[in-house]
Amino acid sequence: MFEVIKTEGKARRGVFTCAHGTVQTPVFMNVGTQGAIKGAVSALDLKDLGCQVELSNTYHLHLRPGDQVVRQMGGLHKFMRWDGPILTDSGGFQVFSLAGLRKIKEEGVTFASHIDGRRIFMGPEESMQIQSNLGSDIAMAFDECVENPATYEYAKASCERTLRWLERCKAEHDRLNSLPGTVNPHQMLFGINQGATFPDLRIWHMKETAKIDCEGYAIGGLAVGEPTQVMYDIIDAVEPYMPADKPRYLMGVGTPSNIIEAVARGVDFFDCVMPARNARHAKLFTWSGALNIRNEKYRTDERPIDPECDCPVCQSFSRAYLRHLFVAEEMLAMRLAVMHNLYFYNKLTGRIREALDGGDFAAFRAEYSEKLAGRI
Ligand code: GUN
Ligand code: ZN
Repeated sequence: MFEVIKTEGKARRGVFTCAHGTVQTPVFMNVGTQGAIKGAVSALDLKDLGCQVELSNTYHLHLRPGDQVVRQMGGLHKFMRWDGPILTDSGGFQVFSLAGLRKIKEEGVTFASHIDGRRIFMGPEESMQIQSNLGSDIAMAFDECVENPATYEYAKASCERTLRWLERCKAEHDRLNSLPGTVNPHQMLFGINQGATFPDLRIWHMKETAKIDCEGYAIGGLAVGEPTQVMYDIIDAVEPYMPADKPRYLMGVGTPSNIIEAVARGVDFFDCVMPARNARHAKLFTWSGALNIRNEKYRTDERPIDPECDCPVCQSFSRAYLRHLFVAEEMLAMRLAVMHNLYFYNKLTGRIREALDGGDFAAFRAEYSEKLAGRI
């Protein structure tokens, strides 16, 4: 269930309810690909980091430990000890970005596992079966994320196939939810818009996708190397055709500034590996821009990473200590840095929500969209 409780321009403040709780939107989903946040952060830590939704991957969990194992352990919530909402990505992106030697047919994709090269087949039905075994709250449709740049002909044929795959996903998803013994019979299905960088394909595909009754709709195939303005233009083009009463999810995006700009264009859900990945490279987000904690200038800096941050790391540790941990290659460096960055992203969407509640999102956007855009 989704309710938009306030709007400002195209920006929406909403409340989303699923089997494992209520989510305040706009929301940032914390990426735990294999049921763990990279950097040694567990589901227990997520509670302290303001996380509302955890995101895991069909592709990875199918390969290891196997979705049957997760099902036998009572589903992903119980397995990883996260009792809040979980979204699983369908494998549609990972099969195309990680797996080797793939072959795409109408039925689905045959690919070589990135772990041991084993040949594996995944189509819409398999993806739905795996996600049903994982028992996530939101299952994503099995799609093809087209490489950038793509030819018009390829992108057209591909998004037509992704639409046929969505029909098959929907049928299989409904069937699985009604089977006795299903891990999470209330699992929802989100459809995914594709169409590369061609606005007419994007719009056609979004209109057709919206005809298939899903509990939410995502924009996929962006942040794959196209210029930022192209991404914003695509969101502007498809947004009018996304059902207003359903959540909208921009997949794999992005920088703090990308998130603010996409909220301004009507997006509600986000996920990105950036906060955790940057943290592992000593790149930390602050409210006055990003910094690299390895820098010599922090050697005896007694301040926390961000004096404006109230995360558990900033409450206790100095920049000097963090810098020392990175230079000494202590594992704790990763963990503390990831915790701070995830807290920052969760707080960012929290502050966006507060701004929307107070009717001053425009002022928030004006103040932070550029300030947080700085490259590191
Ligand atoms: N994550 C980022 N982009 C995509 C996409 O286009 N499809 C899927 N399934 N996941 C994504
Ligand atoms: Zn902090």
